[in-house]
Amino acid sequence: MPDSRNESTVGYDRRYRLARTDRVDSLNQYYCFENPIFYMPTDLPPLQIGLAGFGNVGAGVFKNLEKNRDLLRERTGRDIVVRKIVVRDLSKSRELALPERIVSTDLDDLINDDEIEIVVELIGGTDRAFELVKAALGKKKVVVTGNKALLAAHGKELFALAEQQQTPIYFEAAVAGGIPIIKTVQESLVGNHIESVTGIINGTCNYILTRMSEAGLGYEEALGEAKDLGYAEADPTLDVNGWDAAHKAIILASLSYGCWLPEDEIYVEGIEKVSGKDTQFADDLGYAVKLLGIIQLHPDSGSIEVRVQPSLISKDHILASVKGVFNAILVTGDVVGETLFYGSGAGQDPTSSAVISDLADAATRVVGGNSRTGFVPHGLYGKPMPVEETVSKYYLRLEVEDRPGVLAQISTLLGENDIGILSMIQPEGNESEGAAPIVLMLHYAPFGVVCDTIERIAALDCVREEPMWMRVEG
Ligand code: HSE
Repeated sequence: MPDSRNESTVGYDRRYRLARTDRVDSLNQYYCFENPIFYMPTDLPPLQIGLAGFGNVGAGVFKNLEKNRDLLRERTGRDIVVRKIVVRDLSKSRELALPERIVSTDLDDLINDDEIEIVVELIGGTDRAFELVKAALGKKKVVVTGNKALLAAHGKELFALAEQQQTPIYFEAAVAGGIPIIKTVQESLVGNHIESVTGIINGTCNYILTRMSEAGLGYEEALGEAKDLGYAEADPTLDVNGWDAAHKAIILASLSYGCWLPEDEIYVEGIEKVSGKDTQFADDLGYAVKLLGIIQLHPDSGSIEVRVQPSLISKDHILASVKGVFNAILVTGDVVGETLFYGSGAGQDPTSSAVISDLADAATRVVGGNSRTGFVPHGLYGKPMPVEETVSKYYLRLEVEDRPGVLAQISTLLGENDIGILSMIQPEGNESEGAAPIVLMLHYAPFGVVCDTIERIAALDCVREEPMWMRVEG
């Protein structure tokens, strides 16, 4: 059936499209990239891909390419065929059996095979992956990767190479798993100055904090659950220390502001210090605790604030309702206003959905005449804002001696440093051995001033433990 929407467009029907390929070429110049669904010819050779890695995501890509093969062929006009798979360990037991006929253990097999147009890098890490991606681009093979650590560390160099080789790197799976946030920022919001991006971009941490808050679990217990459910890696260090989220924040900041920010200029805190007491007191005060990636443009100075920190947000805030392993990203543009993206930020199927969307882009690129290589640097912004200068409200929990005069000492130090107190509670029933917790909500103040002041408060004789404090956002 021909497409009836408009005589001048090319429709769904395979024969109809083939009959009209004379018109497709010119149409593609204009329409293909924006809407590859409707304008693809169907007589192109299969797209041969080389898959590096057959772990959770690699196996998911293989499985889901097979599952939705017909749909993808219809939508892209090409068959997407896995020609070779490279794994490190052939003997590893796997949920999905390796298709032995096409498997090897040598990454060079992907580079040296001239039939392979696309290398899908899903091996993780930053050493072998870096070499593989450089070698693939060197041979003008398109790269698809979900490797956030690689892009955060080497994005600047890799995208320069991609530009030099006129060969793209696609990386939708690198941030927030199945949520299509990369293409959203790159394409859909291209007409906006991005004012801010605030994200819950680590599912493991969000799961742990949700269970601590809702089921009253301690940190270790909640982490154990996250491991049992397969959310946290066997070594969850990068999840809980904030760096997985930081890598994603660096990528989002780079896309938003056209420059790669160095990892050592990003301020990162994890959730290891957050205790059950904190999630409970925050809840009593009307807040949820979330690990947030904050990316914010300061238009006056042109500087960019990028940081990852456990933070309190009001229970009324839309991000407070993002629970369990889910991710959500709030993007504000000067033209569009506020937008929110929600979904599964990890897991085999959601992440392979993102990889497959990149494969579809790669498949249609050949006919689309699109020369973009994945990242467009520009010089409008670039200076990272020192974290000491960033301003917010704060939550401060102190374990102090339970006697008169203590509060006066603390409020004196805060007052001397121009930090106002918004509210204070001493939650009853938590006293032990002559000490009691007090929780103060502090007014907007620069981070550096608050750090120094809390250091001085910690040194008071009446303060029994290391203070626990977090930013309050939103
Ligand atoms: N481990 C990550 C998370 C997913 O828990 O969100 C991969 O970045």
